[in-house]
Amino acid sequence: MAEISDAPFRRIAKEYGAGLTFTQMVSADGIVKGNFNTLRFATFHKSEKPIGIQVLGNDETTLRDAAAKLSSLNPDVIDLNCGCPVTKVVSNKMGAWLLNDPPKLGKLVKALVEGSNGVPVSVKLRLGMDGGRITVLENAKRAEDNGAAYIAIHARLRSDKYDVDPAWEWIAKVKESVSIPVVGNGSVFTPFDAIKMIEETGCDSVMVARGALGNPFIFRNFNNLFEKNIQPSPPDVDEVKNLAIKHLNLLVKEYGEINSLDKAKKNIIWYFRVFGGITELLEQIFKAKTELELKEIIINHSDKIKNNFYPEEDLDYYYKKFKNRVLFWLEEDEKLTKFLNAKVA
Ligand SMILES: Cc1cc2nc3c(=O)[nH]c(=O)nc-3n(C[C@H](O)[C@H](O)[C@H](O)COP(=O)(O)O)c2cc1C
Repeated sequence: MAEISDAPFRRIAKEYGAGLTFTQMVSADGIVKGNFNTLRFATFHKSEKPIGIQVLGNDETTLRDAAAKLSSLNPDVIDLNCGCPVTKVVSNKMGAWLLNDPPKLGKLVKALVEGSNGVPVSVKLRLGMDGGRITVLENAKRAEDNGAAYIAIHARLRSDKYDVDPAWEWIAKVKESVSIPVVGNGSVFTPFDAIKMIEETGCDSVMVARGALGNPFIFRNFNNLFEKNIQPSPPDVDEVKNLAIKHLNLLVKEYGEINSLDKAKKNIIWYFRVFGGITELLEQIFKAKTELELKEIIINHSDKIKNNFYPEEDLDYYYKKFKNRVLFWLEEDEKLTKFLNAKVA
């Protein structure tokens, strides 16, 4: 996830049982030109393996050269992004734009395979650009025919927002039509969702994005359920508190104090979104200007949760908001506005 799945995030996901993590998406052009920030996003510590690097591009030569350079970092897979819906990306004929041009998509996969020195290449697809043309079956076949080791499918169209349910049935159709492994993706928020996806689609593996925000527990709970039939249990407040502090420490180590604060704030809110008092937490957290202040907020907020300080809050309300938009606090929020206005008065 762009802006999110950096080294601290990935490290925690792995500690909690994620089988494979990915770097943030990087531009193939930036890799070839040796752009400092692009290369920094693509690198990882060897303890993070197995790990994939995701690239964005639309030119065969550039992707071939980028794959060659990336292969020297020894990732476990190099993934081609064919799903990014952002206008700037699509207008440059990259990301989801490729979905409408299966022959081109095939050639790009081939170029990556040629350059990657044996590192497996994968492709992340959506169902298509818009309702008029669902291209996932054709694109999956092109990917397979051109040497992709597996495909991942986000079962939505480029034009779909998150409030549209993913059409998992297309994952099943792809699974029937190719012989390489298929990874399913789209609205897996609980271990039960993951098992349901496997059962309904026959996919070989499940990819989790938003469901892992502030919730690495999903990996532990899924592995326990799947392998040992142990029923999922929610984390207790102390575990969340310690993890939020650990994540903050890792971010400060990675980026320095000033540059890590905004990243830490997002993650802290995600960690605590399952408890009451979210509006109060938001109010405090956005005022914090130092690492120490953030730590104090985490500790005090956890104490209050433990002492049942917060009245019953509409958790379901915030959960739904989160599902539709991960930065849910940036939305016009009736409850939050009311709360903040009351404070001012
Ligand atoms: C903040 C954010 C950033 C994302 N960045 C990427 C990205 O760089 N590459 C990519 O393939 N998908 C990206 N995605 C899409 C997710 O990988 C995933 O396909 C999508 O969110 C559906 O899965 P989910 O319902 O589990 O969230 C991003 C999603 C979010 C919410």
